[in-house]
Amino acid sequence: MNIVVVCGTNREGSLSRLLSAEVAESYEKRGHTADLLDMRELPTEVLDPNAYKEKGSALQAIVDRFLAADGVVFVIPEYNGSYPGILKLFIDMLPYPEGFDSRPCAFIGLAAGEFKSLRAVEHFQQVAGYRNAYIYPRRMFIGQSFQQFVDGRLSDDELSKRLQAQSDGFLCFIESLRQNGA
Ligand SMILES: Cc1cc2nc3c(=O)[nH]c(=O)nc-3n(C[C@H](O)[C@H](O)[C@H](O)COP(=O)(O)O)c2cc1C
Repeated sequence: MNIVVVCGTNREGSLSRLLSAEVAESYEKRGHTADLLDMRELPTEVLDPNAYKEKGSALQAIVDRFLAADGVVFVIPEYNGSYPGILKLFIDMLPYPEGFDSRPCAFIGLAAGEFKSLRAVEHFQQVAGYRNAYIYPRRMFIGQSFQQFVDGRLSDDELSKRLQAQSDGFLCFIESLRQNGA
């Protein structure tokens, strides 16, 4: 399967980027392809008022990578009690309805603070749910982000195990949707 891992921010030095790489690796280890789609890759034309209607080749290529996903894992940092604006702008670039319709989606929240991006993920789930995504119910939340990474990787074994368990569960979720013709 082709799993797209969306890193939900374009911030330079983002920890979500590190986490996204670890998530992508977990799918590759299981024999699947993983495409890390970083919001930092968005070309500046995403701000062009015409981009909603007509996209240049660079932006279209990123949209196409998303559309090629058998499943999408969104890594969502908490910014001002919600998810980053750049992530919503990207979502608004996706075609309707095929961007989300019947597409399996999983969620991981990451925040510096104690609320562990719960609100950010739930805000984002409202959008994905509204757009008829198939939402994998087992989410993962990580707080105190600046203490969680050593040499670019999660340092807490318990969190690493939860990440691996989510990857296993999400793959089963996608498979069972397929078997049921969903
Ligand atoms: C614009 C901005 C707003 C933020 N707002 C919050 C917040 O509301 N709550 C919180 O716990 N952390 C907040 N943070 C910290 C991020 O959650 C933290 O940097 C975390 O590591 C995930 O974001 P990152 O991928 O950019 O590192 C904010 C960071 C930025 C850049």
